[in-house]
Amino acid sequence: MEQQHLSVTDSRTGKEYTIPIEGDYVRAADIAKIGAPEGKIDLAALQAAHPLRVIDNGFANTACMESSITHIDGLRGTIRYRDFPIEGLFHEYIYEDVMHLIIWGHLPNDQQKAHVREAMAKAMNPPQSVKDVITAFPRDSETFPMILAGMSAFAASDSVVCKTRHQQSAMFHGHLDVADEALVRTIGYLATTISLIYCHKNEKTWTAPEPERNLLGNLLLMMGIADPQVEKCLAKLWILYADHEMTNSTAAVLHAGSTLIDPVAAITAGIICGYGPLHGGAIDLAYEGFRAIGTPERVPPFIERIKAKGGRLFGYGHRVYKTRDPRVSLIEELLKEHRDAVDANPLLRVAMAVDKYANQDAYFIERGLKANADLMGCFLYTAMGFDTDMIIAITILSRVPGALAHWRESLTQPVKLWRPQQKYKAPLAN
Ligand code: ACO
Repeated sequence: MEQQHLSVTDSRTGKEYTIPIEGDYVRAADIAKIGAPEGKIDLAALQAAHPLRVIDNGFANTACMESSITHIDGLRGTIRYRDFPIEGLFHEYIYEDVMHLIIWGHLPNDQQKAHVREAMAKAMNPPQSVKDVITAFPRDSETFPMILAGMSAFAASDSVVCKTRHQQSAMFHGHLDVADEALVRTIGYLATTISLIYCHKNEKTWTAPEPERNLLGNLLLMMGIADPQVEKCLAKLWILYADHEMTNSTAAVLHAGSTLIDPVAAITAGIICGYGPLHGGAIDLAYEGFRAIGTPERVPPFIERIKAKGGRLFGYGHRVYKTRDPRVSLIEELLKEHRDAVDANPLLRVAMAVDKYANQDAYFIERGLKANADLMGCFLYTAMGFDTDMIIAITILSRVPGALAHWRESLTQPVKLWRPQQKYKAPLAN
């Protein structure tokens, strides 16, 4: 088939260029050839020639990675992990299987599961420094800074991680065996940190992990939560949050990772983004919004205030989906399954009234704003007995294996520091 291309004439010079199209993409490097001097390019000549650049605030139309992990079709409303539709995975598997699929590209056998369980449980045992750091916080502290402190203390105790900064050559690039061990430890560190925070805040005794349990099983064990219904529910819910292609937080992990830093540090960058109100933090703010509304009758004035630009409706809108987020229907299935526990929370009726009102309103329809997975996700957590200040932390843990799958994938590609450009627009004196 003939190579698809763009034919471009630069009106500044009258020169013509052929820009190859691969799939639906053009390469920024090919755009940079427009206006660039021909032949061998030295930096001074390049700057003088003003080659064409792309400016894209918020990366709304720029791909920064080529990936084979998750495919999202935002117009049809579909998600596929490693080409498996999310609905099939949700109905037939549990989170542990999907975690393996996303990271290593295949569904695991029993031996593979046992191997990862054992290594992760080993990493979950915290040194005293981690316990001390968490318990040094007042019990009513924000969860997020406590997580950063716990992860830092874990990083300081990990000899491989500590070595990363002093290596002349890449420690993880091209060394997937070393990377796999480190990423499994990283997931374990976050699970333990969250469980220690939960126990400290709730004045509960922390329980040591067991090598035959999976990530979720050990998280709940360490937290002292013994109800099998909770594990059953989260083992499904977490599938929906396991990966979401190049999100803000995954991009942060890769951005940090591109400096050749270790996975604990890279994942910390992602955790920071994961807490932001416009990203993972929306799950908490959506719930706060329902609390502020209080009853379904008070939904219309609340939404009218938002339409008058008095804020955003959290749990609504998405950069990729311009239709209903496919995870919402699967969350609704879980809500039905756990109806008794969920219905006990009167705010669910408020959330449903919000969705009904916004879904039929011209403001939201015209802008393609629909419910996202953060609108209702919190209700399963509250029904399972979690305080709202732990919900984002637990949701982030369910995403961390996905983000690390992208980090692992980046290790199979040539080392390339991520360094975007800016357009300088203030005047220069000379
Ligand atoms: N409530 C009200 N108005 C909204 C919302 C919202 N939730 N989302 C977007 N808009 C409006 C904007 O005000 C803007 O209106 P305008 O054209 O009159 O100026 C228009 O829709 C486009 O908004 P952008 O911010 O340019 O859209 P973008 O694609 O960048 O935003 C985002 C995506 C950040 C998710 C946005 O929809 C939002 O803020 N949602 C609320 C926060 C949220 O739920 N985040 C979770 C997303 S899922 C996740 O990350 C885990």
